[in-house]
Amino acid sequence: MLSLRNLKLSFDGSQVLDDINLDVKKGEVVTLIGPSGTGKTSLLRCINLLERPDSGFISLGGLDYDYSRISKKEALNLRRKTAMVFQQYNLFKNKTAIENVMDAQMVVQKKSRKEAYEKSMQELKRVGLEAKVDAYPSQLSGGQQQRVSIARALAVEPEVILFDEPTSALDPELVGEVLKSIEEVAKSGMTIMLVTHEMSFARDISDKIVFMDKGRIAESGTPEEIFSQSTNTRTQQFLNKFYTAVH
Ligand SMILES: Nc1ncnc2c1ncn2[C@@H]1O[C@H](COP(=O)(O)OP(=O)(O)OP(=O)(O)O)[C@@H](O)[C@H]1O
Ligand SMILES: [Mg+2]
Repeated sequence: MLSLRNLKLSFDGSQVLDDINLDVKKGEVVTLIGPSGTGKTSLLRCINLLERPDSGFISLGGLDYDYSRISKKEALNLRRKTAMVFQQYNLFKNKTAIENVMDAQMVVQKKSRKEAYEKSMQELKRVGLEAKVDAYPSQLSGGQQQRVSIARALAVEPEVILFDEPTSALDPELVGEVLKSIEEVAKSGMTIMLVTHEMSFARDISDKIVFMDKGRIAESGTPEEIFSQSTNTRTQQFLNKFYTAVH
């Protein structure tokens, strides 16, 4: 469904992603973990071409692209196959919840207003926000705003949803409702790539954990293999530090 081969990205001569190879199957949840500055966000951004890799190949939804010679049209196609949910929800402040969800469907996908409205209602229901469809972002909690942005991602029916630390900006008591929505999305069979520091959630929800270190995939495996059986020193150091900080 999604494969990356030999992906390389540098900023100003420094190698941020170095030879990334990764496969995500349809309906899988693949979670990226690892120290700060290690390239997790950059990797997600390369998949939807918010960053342009120096070289490498991506296959997504049956199409193959060579990053070093991707055309504008191909870039647009690739972007349309993905949706991203950011730490900051990036909703339009002057639009209601449902208008925010409708926007890309009408502007990018050229759906009619009626069609976009119906789809948006359906997705807002899915994240438990049917009572808030006409609220403006300022009238919603952080958790609710993030759920609107999840509905917005679902509404364009992407091949894969990319979540970049979707709960990091939230007050602790709001984290649970957003994780619950992500879990619903996962259960519905959506293919997901997730960056999170919520380790117990990652363990529960993921089919595969990818540990990144210094721009490389240091280790990947099932949650059990990474969290309980890893013999990789860097993985162990990271997890130990993490658990010490949390507990
Ligand atoms: N637009 C940019 N220009 C220059 N350097 C960048 C840019 N974006 C990211 N970097 C650098 O690339 C490296 C990887 O950054 P990235 O944001 O992908 O890390 P991360 O793993 O997501 O970190 P965190 O856990 O803190 O979010 C860092 O060294 C960062 O400073
Ligand atoms: Mg990041």
